[in-house]
Amino acid sequence: MMKYLKETTHYLQEKGFKNPEIGIILGTGLGQLLEQVDIIHEVSYNHIPHFPTATVEFHKGKLIYGKIEGKTAVIMQGRFHLYEGYDLLDVTFPVRIMKRLGVKKLLVSNAAGAINLNFKKGDLMLIDDHINLLGGSPLAYKGVSKLGNIFVDMSCPYDKSMSDSLIEIANKQNINLHQGVYASVLGPQLETRAEYRYLKTIGADAVGMSTVPEVIVANHLQLPVVAVSVLTDECDPDNLEPVNVEDILATAQQAEPKMVKLFCELLKQI
Ligand code: HPA
Repeated sequence: MMKYLKETTHYLQEKGFKNPEIGIILGTGLGQLLEQVDIIHEVSYNHIPHFPTATVEFHKGKLIYGKIEGKTAVIMQGRFHLYEGYDLLDVTFPVRIMKRLGVKKLLVSNAAGAINLNFKKGDLMLIDDHINLLGGSPLAYKGVSKLGNIFVDMSCPYDKSMSDSLIEIANKQNINLHQGVYASVLGPQLETRAEYRYLKTIGADAVGMSTVPEVIVANHLQLPVVAVSVLTDECDPDNLEPVNVEDILATAQQAEPKMVKLFCELLKQI
């Protein structure tokens, strides 16, 4: 893996991805932040050596280097998911690359279902903790221990200072920002009613198919990370309406300007 990390980092540095300060991972259907970016370079994932190639067509799949709110950032437009057939090393490889390129902080967004029924479709949730239901860890692979202690402390996986800033920004901007626990599942099928009941019982406020692997690796790398979920559907097991991916994407897009505002204001402060 070390060889791959070096080659990919070198490739991107040659492409001009020099000294970025911030890494940003944009979730499914969440690309509007890019309207605020002065793009300097962009490379399709399938041109980047050792990067997994994007398969699901609504993930555009580009790595972007540019300026946003005065900060130099590397931005993933679309991420990799386990449900596309990648493994946890593939899914988290870009986080390791961002760190090697020099990013000091990581901002993550995703679309998620609301398990906590006080939260509504279109609301935002700051992730303050998570439950890993993926059945694996990106640190449980041969060779990863060569990259640092794998017994990573997860007592506070989301950066407190950036999280507090986001809460403050949300208050000032009149954005309703919940806080809660995100559970990650493999997918790609959505959950059954029984699974939603189970998720509620174990303490999840939201459920999605991403983010946790990247956050585990960010912690492995001691890279401060914050994450915000856009809640795209209400997972009420007693009144469960069929959801489809188009609805999820449409809701994500409607709620997205609030998330863009939060991230832009945070970028001004960090
Ligand atoms: N379950 C899992 N992932 C999701 C959901 C959901 O209800 N909504 C958006 N992503």
